[in-house]
Amino acid sequence: MSSATWTMFDGDALDVLRQLPNDSVDAVITDPPYNSGGASSTSRTNQTARKKYVSSDAQHDLPDFTGDQRDQRGYLAWMTLILGQCLRVTRTGGPLLVFCDFRQLPVTSDALQAAGWVWRGVVPWHKPIARPQLGGFRRSCEYALWATNGPVDAARNPVSLPGLYTASQPRGSHRVHITQKPLELMRELVKVCVPEGTVLDPFAGSGSTGVAALAEGRSFQGVELSPAYRRVAESRLSQAALGTIV
Ligand SMILES: C[S@@+](CC[C@H](N)C(=O)[O-])C[C@H]1O[C@@H](n2cnc3c(N)ncnc32)[C@H](O)[C@@H]1O
Repeated sequence: MSSATWTMFDGDALDVLRQLPNDSVDAVITDPPYNSGGASSTSRTNQTARKKYVSSDAQHDLPDFTGDQRDQRGYLAWMTLILGQCLRVTRTGGPLLVFCDFRQLPVTSDALQAAGWVWRGVVPWHKPIARPQLGGFRRSCEYALWATNGPVDAARNPVSLPGLYTASQPRGSHRVHITQKPLELMRELVKVCVPEGTVLDPFAGSGSTGVAALAEGRSFQGVELSPAYRRVAESRLSQAALGTIV
């Protein structure tokens, strides 16, 4: 039986991060609100996350979430503060994976470097089911930007991981968050954290990073602002700790 543990913090990511001790986690793997979802500033800042990211034919009616209406400059400043705190709480050599879409890739890579992380690469997540784009290409990928707190610590975690993953978003009764990441993807990504280490996700949502961490023998600390999604995360994490992965 794994000795991995989990903790969920209630509240704003930046407030909670500021209270966490230095060098207290081994990896940060997070999927923040993208603050994307439109070609113009107006379409990004005037619509809810649900309106932006849930298609009209989606077979679910899940809760909305806040924090997704910053413009590019606001997102850069905020993400730099968040990722700066993440760097402080991560042990030297520890990795960061932060998700973004194509629109937010430049600003997210600027933020992680401004925060002091060493940018190492881009890990595309390929989604086989993506809406066709007339006259152009399907937007069938989102991206996890990979960085480290100083040098890569291959001595503590000598993994050699693929640079590309394909997985579909959960559907039907497995879909519990409007921007949920697939568990099979997250279970592969958490392997970048040293075995038996602790993964931090300051935007935990339904807890997918944490469920994956527990399933792979890592401990988990998460933060979530939405009470509804925090309850979903806590329920999934409790089950994962007992060996039931949902
Ligand atoms: C993209 S979703 C994460 C989804 C998650 N990866 C999953 O699979 O369920 C981002 C989450 O961040 C939360 N959030 C937004 N602003 C926040 C803040 N300031 N502090 C903490 N959580 C926040 C939202 O409620 C939302 O659940």
